[in-house]
Amino acid sequence: MKTIGIVTSGGDAPGMNAAIRAVTRLAHSKGFQVYGFEKGWEGLLTNTYRVLTPRSVGGIIQLGGTILRTSRCLEFAKKEGKKKAAKALAKDKIEGLVVVGGNGSMKGAYELSKEASTLMVGVPATIDNDVYGTDETIGFDTAANTAVAEIDKIRDTAISHERIFIVEVMGRTRGFLASTVGLTVGAEIILIPEVPCNKQAIIKTLKESAKKGKKSSIIVAAEGIGDTRKLAKELEEKTGSEVRLSILGYAQRGGSPTARSRLLANLFANHAVQLLARGQGNRIVGLRNGKITSIELEKSCAQEKPLDLNLLKLANVLAT
Ligand code: F6P
Repeated sequence: MKTIGIVTSGGDAPGMNAAIRAVTRLAHSKGFQVYGFEKGWEGLLTNTYRVLTPRSVGGIIQLGGTILRTSRCLEFAKKEGKKKAAKALAKDKIEGLVVVGGNGSMKGAYELSKEASTLMVGVPATIDNDVYGTDETIGFDTAANTAVAEIDKIRDTAISHERIFIVEVMGRTRGFLASTVGLTVGAEIILIPEVPCNKQAIIKTLKESAKKGKKSSIIVAAEGIGDTRKLAKELEEKTGSEVRLSILGYAQRGGSPTARSRLLANLFANHAVQLLARGQGNRIVGLRNGKITSIELEKSCAQEKPLDLNLLKLANVLAT
């Protein structure tokens, strides 16, 4: 293998730069040159890349975002887009492509693998932690820590004003971020898309908490549960308490990656480059039961990652 490519695609996640750095330096140590495609899949369609060297990726391990930039590319989503990307890979003689991103990017890599002879290796990086085949994605720990730091501050106001706060966290259609964040901030209630939202039960819990002497509450809600503004209004009407909504938003996607996110980036990159060096592709690397491993991209794309509802049960007991 002479040349590999790397692309960061979909929503950015803290630790993507650490992955770019590690892939580049590990690939160079094996004698491969590395092309970094710009702006996600768009870079393959426009054939826009920069040659990455061990020096050019210096000083980026601590940076959030992605130096290669990223996008959600509509043209690539179409079959013709993938054919065009496959042609660019062939033209540039890219024998292996490391795709750093979330679920959508892994699906893109899998679809592209059907059109291209280039070996694809997925490196899961998303704050949503919803990629099948890994217990944790790059960026998840950083986003969780960012959300926890913000909610700890919100707790001060909740206590001082004796209010109920709904704090909406990201996660797209899944509740991985909300359940981890909810448990670790000591939320009174956690709402995730995987568990149908029972408003009567929420009101009952809040009223019982008030009876037990709790004067404030934090509800951590995943964005995927639906309209949190409406929920805040309804809860205010039904509980008689002041209810405020705080949507944490994109701050969760940025910032310097935690040690944990950087560690995963380095370990995933190492495994990805080793796979390519052995001529293995169309796999996604991941952390499973404490070990770095890989599964077929096809398998990862065909399945929904299960969420451990025990976290919610635990949080429930601890909220008493
Ligand atoms: O996938 C990461 C994520 O931040 C989700 O949590 C969120 O739903 C989505 O991206 C937002 O996407 P966009 O950046 O396209 O607005």
